[in-house]
Amino acid sequence: VNYTIIDKDTCIACGACGAAAPEIYDYDDEGLAYVVIDNNQGNKNIPESLQEDVIDAFEGCPSDSLKISEKPFHGDPLKFE
Ligand code: F3S
Repeated sequence: VNYTIIDKDTCIACGACGAAAPEIYDYDDEGLAYVVIDNNQGNKNIPESLQEDVIDAFEGCPSDSLKISEKPFHGDPLKFE
């Protein structure tokens, strides 16, 4: 897994992803998650040391809003669906 992005249309602000990977995910004013390393564009390579945290966050998202991929998302969370 090299890239990640949040689908803010389906995020329910549960707060799990930022707990699992605080260096990657944070929350906006409404509590919706976004990827801090590239302003939720899904274009920046996740550092290897954080990839396990990202997988934990992916597995813990209750609404499947947290997307991961081997390829960049170019700002579109649904790019590979
Ligand atoms: Fe939202 Fe899923 Fe994170 S619901 S707050 S993207 S764990």
